[in-house]
Amino acid sequence: MNAEETLAQIAQEVSVCTNCTLHHSRKKSVPGEGPASSEIMLIGEGPGFYENEQGRPFVGSSGKFLTELLAQAGLKRSDVWIGNVVKCRPPNNRDPQPDELAACGEYLERQIAAIDPKIIITLGRFSMAKFVPGVKISQVHGQMRRVGNRFVIPMFHPAAALHQPRYRPQILADFAKLPQQLAQARAALAQFPDTVTTNEPPEEPEQLSLF
Ligand code: URA
Ligand code: SF4
Repeated sequence: MNAEETLAQIAQEVSVCTNCTLHHSRKKSVPGEGPASSEIMLIGEGPGFYENEQGRPFVGSSGKFLTELLAQAGLKRSDVWIGNVVKCRPPNNRDPQPDELAACGEYLERQIAAIDPKIIITLGRFSMAKFVPGVKISQVHGQMRRVGNRFVIPMFHPAAALHQPRYRPQILADFAKLPQQLAQARAALAQFPDTVTTNEPPEEPEQLSLF
């Protein structure tokens, strides 16, 4: 199966999944969308009201703002893959629970493996916790770090910036840095495609400390 077929297969499995209680409140599952060849994956939290109606990620007010944020980086929605850590809407938009995050995690892992992006942008704390645990978003937002064979940039959730205007200039500035970060990620992955697992000279960490 190629990446596109794998993503379609996952979307099919998600649509009939009963692995956690969120399937009870599901109208349409939201597997995520975008090109299988995307260099950038954006991972949010979970579907809200409109996403549950339409089966597409980030189509409500957060999504409108996300489209603006991508424009800051010179990107269109169709240039990136957009998804969530849970694929079915939590009732009343409550936080996803640990058992739900664990149950749904396998789909996201398979999506990441199929797409093999250079950069994962986490939107919100549940997404960030999957890739960069134990940090505070206020201290690390907009900073790119290598995690295995790709890079992760934790960003504020667009909904946070909609609700708290003081985050707005920060999230806009963070997205404006993205083209430069993508260039850095491409260069670093071309030079050091695989994670260094041996105790060889620390070339890679020195290079990456520039970021
Ligand atoms: N918020 C999210 O985290 N994901 C969506 O798909 C929509 C809003
Ligand atoms: Fe399955 Fe994920 Fe939906 Fe839970 S949220 S029912 S694990 S697809």
